[in-house]
Amino acid sequence: MKGGGAYISIGSSTSSINSMGSGSGSGSGSKMTLGKSVKMYLTIFIATTCIYMVLYQYHMSREPFAPSEVGKPPLYIITPTYRRPEQLAELTRLGYTLKHVANLLWLVIEDANKTNPLVAHTLDRIGVPYEYMVAPMPEKYKQTKKAKPRGVSNRNRGLEYLRQHATEGVLYFADDDNTYDISIFEQMRYISKVGMWPVGLVTKTGVSSPIIRNGKLDGYYDGWIGGRKYPVDMAGFAVNIKFLRQRPHAQMPFKPGYEEDGFLRSLAPLDNDEIDLLADECRDILTWHTQTKKNPPAQALNKTRYSNTNLVHIDKLLVRP
Ligand code: UGA
Ligand code: MN
Repeated sequence: MKGGGAYISIGSSTSSINSMGSGSGSGSGSKMTLGKSVKMYLTIFIATTCIYMVLYQYHMSREPFAPSEVGKPPLYIITPTYRRPEQLAELTRLGYTLKHVANLLWLVIEDANKTNPLVAHTLDRIGVPYEYMVAPMPEKYKQTKKAKPRGVSNRNRGLEYLRQHATEGVLYFADDDNTYDISIFEQMRYISKVGMWPVGLVTKTGVSSPIIRNGKLDGYYDGWIGGRKYPVDMAGFAVNIKFLRQRPHAQMPFKPGYEEDGFLRSLAPLDNDEIDLLADECRDILTWHTQTKKNPPAQALNKTRYSNTNLVHIDKLLVRP
């Protein structure tokens, strides 16, 4: 000990600190040791801080959504789907769109008697929170030669799920084959009762849209009106869950061409001025009624010729009707 000060030795004699700082003749060697040690601890401190900052940034970049995003009103997206060669491609495209949207539950409901492990696997891989359920079309509609009420039992199953499990937020029917700009999802979260907006690629008019005159809803523009009160496309409206729950009998009719109209009518009472007009007061197109070219079912794989090849694995991934 020198000069009566406390002497702290850490590890070896070279990394010792004279904490006295009295300068009572401890010599220049000791001052050098002090300087070096301070430098060393400073370096360790700065390096550790940098490592923590990098790790924190990495952690944040791995988190899909910021905490403020997650606190937004929830979205419930009901997607009817059915077994066909295009099914996994459609679900993959829609799923990765939905992956950009926070606080969302995707209700994928298949027109089938049992779930398909290939669909479940696809949904798992996409990583959007989902429920996968089945709701077959009633037999009498399946057999008909006329137009079928496509996706209706699926959507009604979704409504039943929401009545049991959802208390707030917004419901939207997103067919598996349509195209959605994600900004529509952020807008629909805040719908108070019902919201509507234009849908591109519908009938010969090229678009289906509410008509806004002097800032007010003043009818509908659609290639086919057919006596409907609400001649809108399935992709063009969303409904607040609390509002839906106040209408316990609201559901979709098995009436081809009148599914949207029937469902919206079942939400009565609903005044026109209670309908929120989204997508820049219906001056923008953020959803499209796209259709995928139908593909014939894949032919059977020649298992003798291609045994012990990758084709045996790929063959199991094809959805055959
Ligand atoms: C249009 C509307 O957008 C549908 O909402 C409506 O149900 C349908 O017309 C109709 O009026 O019947 P469209 O593009 O012509 O839809 O029909 P699809 O895309 O073939 O089917 C609509 C949804 O129902 C899709 O999500 C599809 O996966 C599903 N679907 C279709 C079934 O669940 N089962 C089927 O047999 C066919
Ligand atoms: Mn479609």
